[in-house]
Order: sequence, then C-alpha cells, then structure tokens
Amino acid sequence: MPVVYGNRYPVAKRMISNMDTLVVKPVKTLKGNITVPGDKSISHRAAILSSLARGTTRVHNFLTAADCLSTVQCLRKLGVDIEGPENNTLIIKGKGFDGLKEPEDVIDAGNSGTTMRLMTGVLASLTFFSVITGDDSLRRRPMDRVINPLSRMGAIIAGRSGNSKAPLAITGQKLRGIKYNSPVASAQVKSAILLAALRAEGETTVIEPALSRDHSERMLQHFGVRINKKGPAVSVTGPCTLETGGDFTVPGDISSAAFFIVAASLVPGSEITVTGVGINPTRTGIIDVLREMGANIIFENERAECGEPVADIRILHAPLRGTHVGGDIIPRLIDEIPVLAVAAAVARGETRITGAEELKYKETDRIKAVAEELQKLGARVEELPDGLAITGVSELKGAHCHSRGDHRMAMALAVAALLATGETVIEQASSITVSFPEFFNVLNSLTVE
Ligand code: S3P
Repeated sequence: MPVVYGNRYPVAKRMISNMDTLVVKPVKTLKGNITVPGDKSISHRAAILSSLARGTTRVHNFLTAADCLSTVQCLRKLGVDIEGPENNTLIIKGKGFDGLKEPEDVIDAGNSGTTMRLMTGVLASLTFFSVITGDDSLRRRPMDRVINPLSRMGAIIAGRSGNSKAPLAITGQKLRGIKYNSPVASAQVKSAILLAALRAEGETTVIEPALSRDHSERMLQHFGVRINKKGPAVSVTGPCTLETGGDFTVPGDISSAAFFIVAASLVPGSEITVTGVGINPTRTGIIDVLREMGANIIFENERAECGEPVADIRILHAPLRGTHVGGDIIPRLIDEIPVLAVAAAVARGETRITGAEELKYKETDRIKAVAEELQKLGARVEELPDGLAITGVSELKGAHCHSRGDHRMAMALAVAALLATGETVIEQASSITVSFPEFFNVLNSLTVE
C-alpha cells in the first residue's frame, strides 16, 4: 500500500521513484506541541470487549491504523455490527457472546500479533469453527504460546509447524478454568487466556514471570467484570457477562510518543509537548530508563480516563549517558527498545539491554534488525543472545537502511536519521501504517529549520 504524506517534506520527503522509500534529513531542532494517535493495545481491546458486551459502546480516539483495523475486520466477519471509524470513533453494537457467529471464510489478522492472539482466545470459547491467518511476518511468529494454555482449558486448536504457527483452525468448546504459570511475560498471552476465561467454567488464574501491560484487566473492570489482581497474578471467574463500555476514550499511545520523546531528548535545543498520552505504569519503562540516562521529561496535567492514567509529556533536550536495562522492566518497555537503542547509540558510555529475548519474536527479529541497521549508520552496537550492547558514538552518519517491514524499526531509524550527518534512506517506510500512519507528518510539524 503506498503511503501518502503531506505536501511539505522539510525532514522526510518521499522519493518520486518509489512511494515506499523515504529520505530523512537531519534537523536543527524540534519544537512544538503534538498529539499521537490512540494506543494500539487499548484500541484492540476496546474493539473486542465492546463486541462481547451487550449494548452500544462508542470508542473514541480509536487507532485507525492497519493493526487495529484488522481487529475490526475480524469482528465484522464474526457478525458484529461496527460503524466507523469516523473521526476515529467506532460505534459497536454488541449483542453479547451470542452475537458472534461462525465466519464464512478465513479471517485475517494481517500483521497484528495482538489481533491473532487475542481473537484466538475469544474464538476458543465460541462453539463454532473458524480459521485465522495473517501476513508472512505473522505466520512466522509463535502461536503455541497461546495454543498451549488454551488447549489446557479444553480448546481444540490446530496450526502449522506442529501446532505452533498460523493459520490456526479453531473448533470452539465449552472451556474450564485453569491456573497457568506463563513462561513468558506477555500481555497477549495473558489476555488471550483471560478472554477465553470469560466463558469458561470456574476460576482462571494467570501468573506471569513479570507483570506485562495490564490494559485487559483494567478494561474488563470498566466493562463490569470482576478481576482479582495480586502482583503478577490475575484471576477471573467465568462465566461472565460484559456491560456496555458507554463512551470509551482511548489515550494517546506512549509507544508512538516514545519516538518523539527520544528525538527531542537527543536533538539539541528541542522542547516539545506530547498531549494526552497514556502513562499506565506497565508501559512507562521507557520514561524511567530515559530519566536514568539523564533525560528531562516532565508529566503535566496528570488525569485518569476510562480506567487509564493520562498526562501531557514535556521533553527538553538533555545530554544522555549509558545505562543497564534488564529484569522486570523489560516488559514495561519491550516495544520501545528499537528507539531506546537509538538513544543509547549517541549517549555517553555503554548501554546494555539484557533479558529481552522476546524481541526475536516481534514483527521481525528486533535484536538483529536494530544491531544491523544502526551499524549502517555508524553506531557501535553488538548483538547479545538476549539483547544489545551499545557504546555511544559522537556522531551517526546518514546511510541506506531498511525497516524490514517493521513499523517500529522504520520510525526508530527515522529518529536516528534526524541526528545523522547527511541524508538517510529508509526502505519499506510504509510499514509505519501498521501503528502510526501520520508519523512523518507529525515529525515535519515539529521541525525548525
Ligand atoms: C501487546 C503486547 C506486547 C507488545 C505488542 C502489543 C498487547 O506483546 O509487544 O506490541 O497489546 O498485548 P507480547 O504480549 O507478545 O509481549
């Protein structure tokens, strides 16, 4: 799909010959106020829970990017009445679980791991047959992490590669509650189990090695489901019914804001504010680490919206120093590691990121992708089996890089390019449409020549 950017390209301009190749130039400084689109994780969950609820929910500030639209499309194929998105609002007329019907054809999660894993949890508990697939990247990603616990609940799910990869064929069953010690700190795994548990008989408990994002737990409570949380353990007792979510507003995505938070921290003289960003503590690992590295980040107007904490985030340029990132903080910043690596690439001293093997199972192997692509820009980055070792350099140099079809790689490389000398070419930049189609327009709006 071609990307259509704005008419002015002070920083990022489309190459006439190829809609998917961008040239990004260095900037002098970044100044201004911006908003970022709705949170991707919360948007998926709002669409799904509204579809399972009885009554109409209006989801405002829904992320109208490819991943969340895949979720909407899957729900429509299951017979859910969804209007929009119009002005980023979805109107979902839920009819409870019984409103979901056997799809006539294979349903498609596109590039979205969250769509596939969460929908598999829902489908496992609905007593009809369905098949879910995805694009080349998603069909390479591990699905046994949801198939195994759901099978223990009584689900019948078959997949390629010894029941580990999509397409998945799901024959929904009446499920029973389980106690599951998850080997991975994954919100997608936890959420798939919790969604299946809504229709299961008895209590289901998921215990994680470290707490992952808790949007499902918070949102289930918003939809009237009783949830028991105790540290990294969460329980729900089925069967449950969901009330309408009423007017539900999705906060801005901190993972999208992170590109600008890092950019403004690194580009001299910058001062920007990102308004209306979700600051759920299970997502703010990037802020904690950047502050430890010396960043000047201020939360203003802290408030709560629909069970999620929100703030305006002000960032002023500050020199950064290297640090060690590992342990329980990893799930709190897993999606921000590509852009954190950019910060580390120009910070003083060494940064070690460890305990982040999960990066290998994202849209691309992000350990390898970050190391190889940042090396092209002159960064000193070494791959570790479970992370990255990065020694800051005084200058990055413009180069020809590739996003590898990964939206977060494309945006992290664009941030690196703002600091580099000369021009940087980013191949397959259109991958940004997965989570942040307006990224380059927002970036251009901040640029001071
Ligand atoms: C997500 C959870 C994370 C994250 C992904 C979105 C979610 O994945 O990387 O972008 O919405 O639950 P894992 O659960 O695989 O860690």
